[in-house]
Amino acid sequence: MVSKLFRFLASAGLLGLVKGAQVVQDWTLSSQPIAPDGFTRSAALVNGQYPGPLLALNKFDSATINVNNQLSDPTMRRSTSIHWHGIFQHQNAQYVLSSTYFTHSQACLEMMVLPSLLNVPLLRNDPEDPHLDLYDVDDETTVISLSDWYHTTAFNLENAWFAGGPEPVPDSGLINGAGRFTGGPDVTLTRVNVTQGKRYRLRLVSLSAEGFFNVSIQNHRMTVIEADGISTEPYVVDFLSILPAQRYINGTNTFAVLHYGGAPDAEPTSSQVFASGPVIFEEFKMAPLLNPGAPGGDGPADQVFNFTFTTTAANGDVWTINGVQYQSPTVPTLLNILSNPDPTFGAHENTFTLMPNATIEVAFIGGPGHAFHLHGHTFDVIQSASGGPLNFVNPPRRDTTASGGTTANPMRIRFRTDNPGPWFIHCHLDWHLEAGLAAVFAEDPAGIVSGPNSISPNQAWEQLCTVYNNLPDDEK
Ligand SMILES: *[C@@H]1O[C@H](CO)[C@@H](O)[C@H](O)[C@H]1NC(C)=O
Ligand SMILES: *[C@@H]1O[C@H](CO)[C@@H](O)[C@H](O)[C@H]1NC(C)=O
Ligand SMILES: *[C@@H]1O[C@H](CO)[C@@H](O)[C@H](O)[C@H]1NC(C)=O
Ligand SMILES: *[C@@H]1O[C@H](CO)[C@@H](O)[C@H](O)[C@H]1NC(C)=O
Ligand SMILES: *[C@@H]1O[C@H](CO)[C@@H](O)[C@H](O)[C@H]1NC(C)=O
Repeated sequence: MVSKLFRFLASAGLLGLVKGAQVVQDWTLSSQPIAPDGFTRSAALVNGQYPGPLLALNKFDSATINVNNQLSDPTMRRSTSIHWHGIFQHQNAQYVLSSTYFTHSQACLEMMVLPSLLNVPLLRNDPEDPHLDLYDVDDETTVISLSDWYHTTAFNLENAWFAGGPEPVPDSGLINGAGRFTGGPDVTLTRVNVTQGKRYRLRLVSLSAEGFFNVSIQNHRMTVIEADGISTEPYVVDFLSILPAQRYINGTNTFAVLHYGGAPDAEPTSSQVFASGPVIFEEFKMAPLLNPGAPGGDGPADQVFNFTFTTTAANGDVWTINGVQYQSPTVPTLLNILSNPDPTFGAHENTFTLMPNATIEVAFIGGPGHAFHLHGHTFDVIQSASGGPLNFVNPPRRDTTASGGTTANPMRIRFRTDNPGPWFIHCHLDWHLEAGLAAVFAEDPAGIVSGPNSISPNQAWEQLCTVYNNLPDDEK
């Protein structure tokens, strides 16, 4: 049994000025059988739960998470690392926390992902939330996780795919860890209790490896007020789609029950009927509330990248960007840069150097429905795959968005380089990431090595890859 203790420190606030509480949580990772849809399989759990425990913080709190890795199932990866969505790791160890984020596992420097496992929603209560007057209830009962679910462990699914089989397809969809599969038992659906007349802030988090969800609540409209941790202008819709994208989740059996106090306990029997044409969420209509406007305005960006992506394999198990399948280097990108501020990168590292303090524009030219996610930054989606015109004035701001659009106007993002570091940019359909649909931005290598935003990993971090490389294969 592997037993390793990693310690992640997330501290919020200005340098040296910690105003909030010190929150400490212990996360024990274990391999245990669970049956969230009635089918029993082995899974990787945090503190015995799926989804993992909620990490609820107030603004300015700092959190220390002690991760005790007891993963023991050799049909899954047993090493792990933690990636925080929405926390941009300025100078690597200091995470500034805000709003609804989630964490998931990416083993040893983003080499491997454990789809749908170890997911922990993170909730932050912000007394300065500009939307405070729009809701009455916002607590652990209103965090809604959506996940696709597989009856076979990720490693076995992936090996079968890489041996020429079809791309893995989920067996069911779960809402807060409960769902049903075709032919399976009537598992008790998740119940969200509400009181008539109150307004609820539902924090929707997609924990999917691949499945995307169209979310609607029968006989209710929803107002979108935040996306990927960025407050938006209120946007009223009947339903919205949540990436990672694709088409497999069976929408006719993925439900939870919104239960009004006083209503009967029985499951509702009617299905969603929209009186007239429903208002469908279109990303391009979602404007950030604070400081809208793309970096560089409508002027040219300082650096432009055209990422043309495609699969080169009949069963889709190889994906490339500009003809290159991403493969993890043996020397991690950060270590490479720290040992040489003018580094060279191997072809399969697909690594592009970004200038400091520059406007970066990336166009994604390829098929629709991939979920591109950038580490280290939010970005402005100046051309959304959902349509609309090129927008420099108030484009959607987030950290994951769908590919698509037309050949002439493909999905296109902008961001400003203010965070030196090696940042992964990848399709968040985990199977596609495994198949190489990824690149790395080496942002300001000189600024990583020295200067006010430089990164100085501690010795334990420096040893991580040596420790990992020396593990027996079945513990990696
Ligand atoms: C989806 O689920 C419903 C209800 O369980 C079932 O009748 C239907 O056959 C399923 N469809 C697919 C494609 O599995
Ligand atoms: C919802 O209310 C029922 C009945 O009061 C209660 O048994 C159940 O635990 C509640 N569910 C949640 C998620 O709070
Ligand atoms: C989900 O929504 C998209 C539009 O956003 C639509 O094209 C698609 O057909 C919907 N899927 C289902 C199963 O309703
Ligand atoms: C990106 O593609 C556009 C449209 O084809 C082209 O005008 C532009 O020169 C390309 N830029 C780079 C950096 O390749
Ligand atoms: C970044 O660029 C802006 C605009 O070009 C300039 O005003 C600013 O001084 C630069 N900041 C740094 C730290 O170089």
